[in-house]
Amino acid sequence: MNALLARLNLRDTNPGACTGPDGWLDDPDGTALVSDNPATGEPIARVVQATAATYDRVVRTAGEAFETWRQVPAPKRGALVHDFGKALREVKEPLGELVTLEMGKIKAEGMGEVQEMIDICDFATGLSRQLYGVTTQSERPGHRMYEQWLPLGVVGIITAFNFPTAVWSWNAAIAAVCGDTMVWKPASAAPLTALAVQHIANRVSADHGVRGVFTLVIGSGSDIGERILGDPRLPLVSFTGSVRMGRRAAEAVARRLGRTILELGGNNAIIVTEDADLDLAVRAIVFGAIGTAGQRCTSTRRIIMQRSIASALIRRLVQAYQQVTIGNPLDDGILMGPLVNAAAVDGMMAALETIKTEGGEVLIGGRRLPEKGRCFAAPTLVRMPRQTPIVLEETFAPILYLLEYATLDEAIAMHNAVPQGLSSAIFTRDLLAAERFLSATGSDCGIANVNVGTSGAEIGLGFGGEKQTGGGREAGSDAWKSYMRRQSNVINWSRDLPLAQGITFGS
Ligand code: UN1
Repeated sequence: MNALLARLNLRDTNPGACTGPDGWLDDPDGTALVSDNPATGEPIARVVQATAATYDRVVRTAGEAFETWRQVPAPKRGALVHDFGKALREVKEPLGELVTLEMGKIKAEGMGEVQEMIDICDFATGLSRQLYGVTTQSERPGHRMYEQWLPLGVVGIITAFNFPTAVWSWNAAIAAVCGDTMVWKPASAAPLTALAVQHIANRVSADHGVRGVFTLVIGSGSDIGERILGDPRLPLVSFTGSVRMGRRAAEAVARRLGRTILELGGNNAIIVTEDADLDLAVRAIVFGAIGTAGQRCTSTRRIIMQRSIASALIRRLVQAYQQVTIGNPLDDGILMGPLVNAAAVDGMMAALETIKTEGGEVLIGGRRLPEKGRCFAAPTLVRMPRQTPIVLEETFAPILYLLEYATLDEAIAMHNAVPQGLSSAIFTRDLLAAERFLSATGSDCGIANVNVGTSGAEIGLGFGGEKQTGGGREAGSDAWKSYMRRQSNVINWSRDLPLAQGITFGS
């Protein structure tokens, strides 16, 4: 553990001592939060949660920083984000390992998470020279009209345990080039990862003579989370988490007429048609369902397969599941680590009880793995007669429902019959089926792929989903627009004052 912290340059600091904007604040009244390694149950850090006074001080600092940061030219802001990406490249391995250690995803995925941070830094650096607005034509002579994008303010960022740092970086890198400053509340299950990232951000900020652009406040959702939601100093809150918590966030921020970017639950399905390449499909399904132990919001939760290939696909899936190596996610050759905590395993077992009462047949898995540790459970395949109520819920665990269809219409209807709308895929070699899936009468999700699984999106496109997933978009494409305020400008360079709509008013 100490060696890992040394590789992250955290040797000289007490990584659990305090939270703060830059440099660290002492918070002697803050209560302790212990972070455990879910693979072993061992505590790895004891961090201090911010009190109300510290929270307030941090937001004030971020607000003061905004006053100057918004005046820094965007490409210069991009230069800081560029260097942040460079610093992340240098610690990709130890930071990825820390992610693994703290929340249990396997090392390759921990490293992938840091790569995702690096990618968004690259994207944001380029974006810093491309915050384009449009010009358009005025109906009035001697007039010019355009639209420009201006920095918004201090952004609240509330992240979940499953991507303890990549999702922050999607928000942080983009917000920073947009001229915003920010306050981050990480998940209580992964505070040490957040501290490590904040240290890197502080170092790079100091190199650029900047303070308070990136700030961190550790604390519970019911305390710090609620403060963020209710804080009128934060015009935008980006929230990642469950539908239940997201609804609360949306209501609280809307009450003060603030804005939200919501990235909530998914219930992601893959349709497999009769002519699909089953080798490809099986690989994508297994990664999608077992990756991050089924705890991605993009995890594959439902397979909707054409009746004629169902038994072949099931046979291959059972075979693949039998070969999944489960164990300490830091070890080489392991494909699945623990769930985030014992409560998550309890939740999975409770869901399995309901599944059985609703007619589900467990084909493989369906049990705890106490011999490996309290947070381990076997990845589970369940054959369902139809989409019963439990299938409509997002159980954040490695349970995959297998469902059959006869016609593509039926498959798409089943696909869309859940309240969530994040990610989706079809595996097919039939062009017509693929296009239908992507059409207005196809998938109703924010992400819809052909011969690519539901999880593992690149940062280049907007990330987010429809319906109860909350409608937000983060990361690439033009998601940056949510982090800025839009201003419409009309300039009159004539010596007259013609009115729009041809109105004459007086003489
Ligand atoms: C999440 O689970 O909240 O597409 C984010 C993916 C990752 C991000 C997931 N790039 O699976």
